[in-house]
Amino acid sequence: MAGAWRGSLRARLMVGVVLLATVGMVAVNAVSLIGLRLNLVDAADATLTNARKTVQHRVHRPHTPIDGGNLNSLIPDGTYVALIDDRGRVVAQTPARDPDGQAGSRPELPDPVPDGFAEHLVTLSAEGAPVPRYRALSFPYGHSATVRRTPGSPPRQFSRVVVAKSLQPAEDVVYWLVGADSAATLAVLGGIVLLSRGVLNVGLRPLRNMAATATAIADGDLDQRIDVTERHSEVGEVGTALNRAFGERQRSEEQLRQFVASASHELRTPLTTIRGWAQLHLHGLAQDPALIERAMLRIEGEAARMHSMVEELLLLARLDQRRPIAHAPVNLGALADDAVTDARVVDPGRPLTVEVPGEVFARGDEDRLRQVLQNLLSNALRHTPPDTPVSVTARALPDGTAQLTVTDQGPGMPPATAERIFERFYRGDESRSPTSGGTGLGLSIVRSITEAHGGTATVRTAPGKGSTFTITLPAAR
Ligand SMILES: Nc1ncnc2c1ncn2[C@@H]1O[C@H](COP(=O)(O)OP(=O)(O)O)[C@@H](O)[C@H]1O
Ligand SMILES: [Mg+2]
Repeated sequence: MAGAWRGSLRARLMVGVVLLATVGMVAVNAVSLIGLRLNLVDAADATLTNARKTVQHRVHRPHTPIDGGNLNSLIPDGTYVALIDDRGRVVAQTPARDPDGQAGSRPELPDPVPDGFAEHLVTLSAEGAPVPRYRALSFPYGHSATVRRTPGSPPRQFSRVVVAKSLQPAEDVVYWLVGADSAATLAVLGGIVLLSRGVLNVGLRPLRNMAATATAIADGDLDQRIDVTERHSEVGEVGTALNRAFGERQRSEEQLRQFVASASHELRTPLTTIRGWAQLHLHGLAQDPALIERAMLRIEGEAARMHSMVEELLLLARLDQRRPIAHAPVNLGALADDAVTDARVVDPGRPLTVEVPGEVFARGDEDRLRQVLQNLLSNALRHTPPDTPVSVTARALPDGTAQLTVTDQGPGMPPATAERIFERFYRGDESRSPTSGGTGLGLSIVRSITEAHGGTATVRTAPGKGSTFTITLPAAR
């Protein structure tokens, strides 16, 4: 079960959503925290730049020593001030306490403070510790000024001032926000997990319905179909495609059933005849040698009919497998000549003509194409009166196809018949009698072979106007 959950689409989608949301939220938080921190540092820097001006302004009377015990009166509270003499020694600085008066820290200054130290804003660490850090700025004090460290002590001269601002408040804000953001991110992710479960459940419901329908069909309920509500969604497209596949499957199964039923039915007739004659003989009813002779002839004739029908069924079954066929150039002109020569042997009295205006080659399987012509010619001989003219042509068309036609001047067919003659087992009314010898498979074989070659088989006919069967095939150069 755990494995199924791990592999399930819903689980994978959910993991994906949560991962993306996490990455997105962490990125947004990181950018805003970094931005905030930069901003706070900028604000500290601005304070220091202002402090420089304030100090320069306030310490304007060098003859009055500054009160070293109250350096913070020079600049806003919370800013560290150190006064440096010529030799880089700190002569006075603000005490180490934070704005609330609690014991705090101050920035670590080098001893002695070198010339040019912190001319531009720099970051310093606290005395004896890496944090809190300070932003610091130093500036020379042009004219000599003095400071008195405690009331009554001698004034000491200084020439440089260092101001610094702790980044502790900024860092406190950032840390607080990191905590708050993390908590909010976790809460939102939890919400996404809970909500996405529901959303995905609803979104994936059509897929589960599809699986249920497919299972029902597999279990034999062939008429079931998937209920497609949104045709243009991806799931809708899958549903439509599956429905088509199911329909196609059902149709082809139905066709197969029909085919087997027709084949059995067709085979039953000759079998019944054969059994009838055999029983007649066994029961001693056929004493007359002439009758026995006739029985044998009929039995042989029906067996031959069954044989050819079974051959045709096998051929159709093979064509139905849609196996790739041979791809050799076939001389259609020669095939037409051969077919007409054979037909002359079978039906010597028939006016037969063949017309092959030039070389015609098609790509395909010679034996199969020979069979096509043979079926068409035998139909023309069988389904028209004996002296009806029949002509065969083979020609290459300018559009890169090769064309075979078999034309007779026979009775032709009404449109309703012509529409169905390519169906399996279909025979015209006059060909229905069991003695006609036809199986109704000849033209369906013609069409199957032609289509296997990527071509088409059509008929043009009308009652009293004869029939023309046209086979169009891809030509071979
Ligand atoms: N040249 C033709 N002239 C008239 N009818 C034809 C012709 N060729 C075929 N048919 C009709 O088409 C039907 C189907 O032909 P086919 O599939 O070859 O079966 P079969 O020849 O075994 O009857 C025939 O039964 C016949 O009615
Ligand atoms: Mg036929």
